[in-house]
Amino acid sequence: RLYDINFKIIVIGNSGVGKSCLTLKATQGIFKEDFVSTLGFQFFSFHVKINDKIIKLHIWDTCGQEIYRSLITNFYRSTSLAIICYSVTDRQSFNEIEIWLKQVKTNSDPDCKVFLIGNKVDLPDRVISCEEGIKCKKEHGFECYMETSAKTGVNVRELFVNCALALYKELPKYMKEREIENLNKQFNLNEDIKTEENDCSC
Ligand code: GTP
Repeated sequence: RLYDINFKIIVIGNSGVGKSCLTLKATQGIFKEDFVSTLGFQFFSFHVKINDKIIKLHIWDTCGQEIYRSLITNFYRSTSLAIICYSVTDRQSFNEIEIWLKQVKTNSDPDCKVFLIGNKVDLPDRVISCEEGIKCKKEHGFECYMETSAKTGVNVRELFVNCALALYKELPKYMKEREIENLNKQFNLNEDIKTEENDCSC
């Protein structure tokens, strides 16, 4: 068995804050110094075993460039958790958190969890303090706030393990939904059989 349950996670935030680097570091252990802006989307997988369940995070790394913002709204559907990233060295990326949060609230399911991540803590020219991050978390009710460095790896694996844990807590609900889905499928199948039988008897 490859996994027991699959969750869709979307990584959003301004261009250049390190979204691709974070996902690459967590899933492949590598860090790229050169900046190649993501074109649309990239997909990654991250598996975590919690108790007897293998959780697969299907991570959608998005492009933060403004021209793509209206395009990615369709891709929020069925997202279980959104990671909003900013860079601790970039005030504008921090100021625009609200825009990203609004996108999540408008386009995703109401129970989609939202994490706030301040990346690039390895750099000396930090302009957003940890306290500001915590304040923002409280103000907007983010599920979790963490500071990371995709370069050194600080808190990177922990971030995605935390995502899996937050979703694992909701597992009974998701299992229930999956069960209902399966029952619906079974019900439709029975319906088909019934129709065929009726056809035959006519
Ligand atoms: P878009 O695809 O345009 O949305 O950008 P992005 O948010 O995916 O940024 P990306 O991961 O491509 O990183 C942008 C630049 O920042 C690259 O040059 C990275 O090497 C650098 N970078 C990313 N994370 C870190 C970090 O934690 N520390 C340092 N020092 N540099 C980082």
